[in-house]
Amino acid sequence: MNHPFDYDALRRETSWDLARQELDCPAGSPVNIGRICIDRHVDAGRGDKTALIHEDHAGQLREFSFRDIKELSGGWAAFLREQGVVELDRVCLFLERGPELYISFIGILKLGAVVQPLFSAFGEEALFQRIDDSQAKVVITQRKHVGKVRKMRERVPSLETVIVIDHLPGKRPLREGEVAYEMMSSRVGDFVPQETADESPSVLHYTSGTTGKPKGALHVHSSLFAQYLTTKMVLDLKDDDIYWCTADPGWVTGTSYGIIGPWAMGITQVVLDAGFSSKRWYATMARHKITVWYTAPTAIRMLMKDGAALAREHDLSALRHMCSVGEPLNAEGVLWGREAFGLDFHDTFWQTETGAMMITNLPGMTVKPGSMGRPFPAVRAGVIDPVSGEELTDPNTVGMIAIRPPWPSIMRTYWNNTPTFYSKFLRGWYVCGDQASIDEDGYFWFCGRDDDVINTGGHLVGPFEIESALLEHEAVAESAAIGKPDELNMEVVKAFVALKPGFVGDDDLELSIMNFIRKKLSPLAMPQEIEFVDKLPKTRSGKIMRRLLKAQESGEEIGDTSGLEDD
Ligand code: PRX
Repeated sequence: MNHPFDYDALRRETSWDLARQELDCPAGSPVNIGRICIDRHVDAGRGDKTALIHEDHAGQLREFSFRDIKELSGGWAAFLREQGVVELDRVCLFLERGPELYISFIGILKLGAVVQPLFSAFGEEALFQRIDDSQAKVVITQRKHVGKVRKMRERVPSLETVIVIDHLPGKRPLREGEVAYEMMSSRVGDFVPQETADESPSVLHYTSGTTGKPKGALHVHSSLFAQYLTTKMVLDLKDDDIYWCTADPGWVTGTSYGIIGPWAMGITQVVLDAGFSSKRWYATMARHKITVWYTAPTAIRMLMKDGAALAREHDLSALRHMCSVGEPLNAEGVLWGREAFGLDFHDTFWQTETGAMMITNLPGMTVKPGSMGRPFPAVRAGVIDPVSGEELTDPNTVGMIAIRPPWPSIMRTYWNNTPTFYSKFLRGWYVCGDQASIDEDGYFWFCGRDDDVINTGGHLVGPFEIESALLEHEAVAESAAIGKPDELNMEVVKAFVALKPGFVGDDDLELSIMNFIRKKLSPLAMPQEIEFVDKLPKTRSGKIMRRLLKAQESGEEIGDTSGLEDD
């Protein structure tokens, strides 16, 4: 019998402890994400179930059962131990989305080390900053990316070993401190996972802020309880689902919901290791009979561009549930989803720092197109005054999104940056740094970020990273990077540059600057456009007023300029 959706009842019945009970992890017992996600299922007689279906760019499939992953991740853990990795050491993953990425992730956690996943698209400088900060001991990479690691290696003395997963003997030799590892021939079925505890560090994810270097949000093994329960209740996964999370594990969505949550539930996941095309995505969904799909608004907008008819040309009849995360999901996206798939996209709001979904559209809940939904039933969320920290309880009042700690997956600190971690809390709230209002029905409506961080295609890019790269060019005196509104990616990076005397801002110089920073930044952070200006708007204290540039760019009201230098 179908019960009508009762949000209040769900709030009464839901607590994070439910996850502990269902995963049979009473308080005080060991919690190891690797064991719970993989070994547990094998020990319970479910080892033959498919855990991972991997499709590469050529359409080749590789399947791995939970038993395969238990043995192969055991192989990784044993090998890393041989390499001298011990509990709490950081092991960085700098890999494309091959099976090795997913399986070594589990192996590192079984060993009790901390896994630091990074996008393989990162340039040498982006890689350096994050490894220099984490002081990783090992980087696991592949031939295609080893060059970038070599370039920055001298600058990171902590880095002892670089593991190359696809080395071809006889081809370009490995250098000192590099070792080859062939995952498929290294099974260890009896590796005993470390008895990590609730608060043992697990995953270190870097995220961008307005100022300074990227910040490493440190998570712990018990974060799993939040990822498990939200996976179960929001993604609505059931034992026979075939689930597809389109996110790269370099991004928190790709680990919390592309590895941990679904595998904690023993679900079969599909990974597509290929570039985006609408046709390819639909073909993948049809081929694997995907039932539950978690994706991002930029991807949805790209699919929209190719029309709903294309979706309907494919047999997507298995699909029963769709969710979205990373940026505001426009109402149009939801309406288009109905037309293309006959289903609602369920938006979810959360962050690297929150580790799991905070504001959600639960299955069965009425979706209001354009709204992020309501707090996950175990989450207490509100909007607050940014200065007083007072909760704003009048409906439709804009404030800062804030969540009441604790919850299992809240970051435990920013690596090497405790002051910034503490600055995220106000009057007992964790403050997300985003603005929203809440309507009469308790639905949250996103208004915008409260800082200068650029959200391009769901990926956060700090202006500081781009400006620093620009400043290294001989012609650049000053620079400011902002997010310029963009139909597809929500924002793209635009840079404003003031030149040193003697340089002329022409096309040749723009090209020279672009080529120069391309080597340093990831493709995501690359400006689409550089505008040469005489000088940048600044506050009297010398801070660049990116807000002003941004307003100019989007033709908005410029707002309060009383702090401006030249008033
Ligand atoms: O600005 C919000 C936006 O993405 C930020 C978090 O980015 P990140 O830490 O990279 O994690 C993204 C994946 C969990 C937020 O502070 N954001 C995320 N989800 C939404 C969103 N903005 C609007 N609507 C969302 N559903």
